[in-house]
Amino acid sequence: KYYIHKSIIDSTNNFAKEIASNAPDGTIIIAEEQTSGRGRLGRSWLSQKGCGIWMSVILKPDLQPQQAINLTQVAAISVVKAIEEIVNVECKIKWPNDIILNNKKVCGILTEMSSEIDKINYVVIGIGVNVNCDNFPEELKGKATSLYLETHSKIDRKKLTGSILNNLELYYNAYLQKGFDYIRPICIEKSITIGRQIKVITNEGEIQGYAVTIDNTGSLVVDTKEAKRISIMSGDVSV
Ligand code: BTN
Repeated sequence: KYYIHKSIIDSTNNFAKEIASNAPDGTIIIAEEQTSGRGRLGRSWLSQKGCGIWMSVILKPDLQPQQAINLTQVAAISVVKAIEEIVNVECKIKWPNDIILNNKKVCGILTEMSSEIDKINYVVIGIGVNVNCDNFPEELKGKATSLYLETHSKIDRKKLTGSILNNLELYYNAYLQKGFDYIRPICIEKSITIGRQIKVITNEGEIQGYAVTIDNTGSLVVDTKEAKRISIMSGDVSV
């Protein structure tokens, strides 16, 4: 295993992408603090010192680019399982990859990839978990939380990091060997999106409808207002 630990960095995903071409499969970068943590869709990610898990994992799987979404899903179930093991609470997954506790977000995942038409060069999976953080700015308070704020007990970040990485190794290998079908039931069981009326912002525009299931590629199946059944590969879901 290759670990890189930084006390302060702009973004572990930036660093991971810089070294990815020459780094071995499975390299892990962890920082105590990020000065410009990044979220999905160009958003920023608050990453204060010592309170969370800010890490990126470099993977070099022999997969098609469109399968990268499944790696995000592998990461999401790994975080949920780790939180169950170490913190003893059940989190849910807002498709494809926000981890939700008591209706607020405790963890976000930012997957970035370098690929060619039919092969992945590398994938960087950035995982940000709000563990013991206790001072969110006013504008985030309604939607972000930490494990500490929800459970009122301080959590050992090292133990939780270890468990996330163990689960990631387990589910990543299972996915590579057995395919998405192996992790699909867990994605469905932990989903907070399925069975609800939702709105999804995709590259093609906004879709409203009922989230039916996650199909065998990892896409979200939605029955739209117009009574058409579609499957969505990526997007930003809100209820
Ligand atoms: C999101 O929900 O928008 C994704 C947030 C991802 C945050 C993590 S923290 C570690 C890694 N480095 C970053 O700059 N972002 C990810």
